[in-house]
Amino acid sequence: MQRVAILLVVWCVGFISAEKPAVRLDKQKTLDIMQSLIQCVAETNVNPEVLIKMRNGDTFPDKVDSNVQKFVNCAFVKTGYGKKNGHVKGGKIVDLFPDNVKEEMRKVVEKCDSKDGKDPNETTYLFFKCFTEESPVHVVLE
Ligand SMILES: *[C@@H]1O[C@H](CO)[C@@H](O)[C@H](O)[C@H]1NC(C)=O
Repeated sequence: MQRVAILLVVWCVGFISAEKPAVRLDKQKTLDIMQSLIQCVAETNVNPEVLIKMRNGDTFPDKVDSNVQKFVNCAFVKTGYGKKNGHVKGGKIVDLFPDNVKEEMRKVVEKCDSKDGKDPNETTYLFFKCFTEESPVHVVLE
């Protein structure tokens, strides 16, 4: 379990890139989110190495292992930012960001939440892929 936690931390921090400014979430939110992610790794049996590989690309693949889609859906639902139907609670996500980027984030969230996958898990995956690619900032969990 501890190894999984470490991999996830590395995974999230790895999203930092030189070009995009980082937005840091506060410690309590980070702890809550990490706990949900760890539970979701256990529940979905996703291979953490696959998550790392996915992170290392500049973009997310269109097709991924269904466990990866399950994991992303589980993570959003369990943290309270996603709905069972695969779409997200956009307002809550936008609220995570500082005022100076809220408007921009609102547009990205709206755009990315407009796609439907063939099931709720794919819908959330498509949102997350789009969000990661289009977001003007990087979310850092620390
Ligand atoms: C979607 O993911 C959840 C876990 O979040 C899983 O219980 C469910 O079986 C998955 N649904 C499909 C259609 O794969």
